[in-house]
Amino acid sequence: MKLLIAVLAGYLLGSIPPSFLAGKIVRNIDIRQYGSGNAGATNVLRVLGVKAGIAVFLADILKGVLAALIGRWMGGETGAALAGFAAIVGHNWPVFLNFRGGKGIATSFGVLLVLFPLISIILFVIGVIIIAVTRYVSLGSITAAILFPILLVMFGYDWKMVLFGVLVGGLALYRHRSNISRLIEGKENKLGERARVQ
Ligand code: G3P
Repeated sequence: MKLLIAVLAGYLLGSIPPSFLAGKIVRNIDIRQYGSGNAGATNVLRVLGVKAGIAVFLADILKGVLAALIGRWMGGETGAALAGFAAIVGHNWPVFLNFRGGKGIATSFGVLLVLFPLISIILFVIGVIIIAVTRYVSLGSITAAILFPILLVMFGYDWKMVLFGVLVGGLALYRHRSNISRLIEGKENKLGERARVQ
């Protein structure tokens, strides 16, 4: 019962959409109709600017951190993983936005910060380097999603946590389908360039 409540709390927390709220507050727009069409920090950065982008990135991370902490408080490491995963699902398919949300990277990062601090920092650094070099945010996200379960294996985590890594990474890859197609076609949006709508 406690785990179920933790999952529900995680999902509802993840469903809160800082990117959508930023769009409404700053320009009274639906962020999902601009830029890449994604309800996430990268698209807010692209459409609304650096300050809003950073604020949304931090708020999305916070959702993941809080969900994992609530989960841990209610059900230990299993609770943290379940509530964290639910928050990522909530971010991607938010009940408050007709289930059309983001791609879950910042929220996943928040969950990982609580569950696997060292791995999350390693992924963050690798992601930032890839973004800085290529200017493709999605490529940094995709690389981190692939590396996450691999790092869990390398760090000796048990099969349950590796499965968690495969699910979180797999979900991120699934949400980046359009980015992957654009990267392959050489049409992906670069940081600082006008976006193509997905
Ligand atoms: O975290 C989302 C990022 O990897 C891609 O965002 O807006 O370029 O699709 P976007």
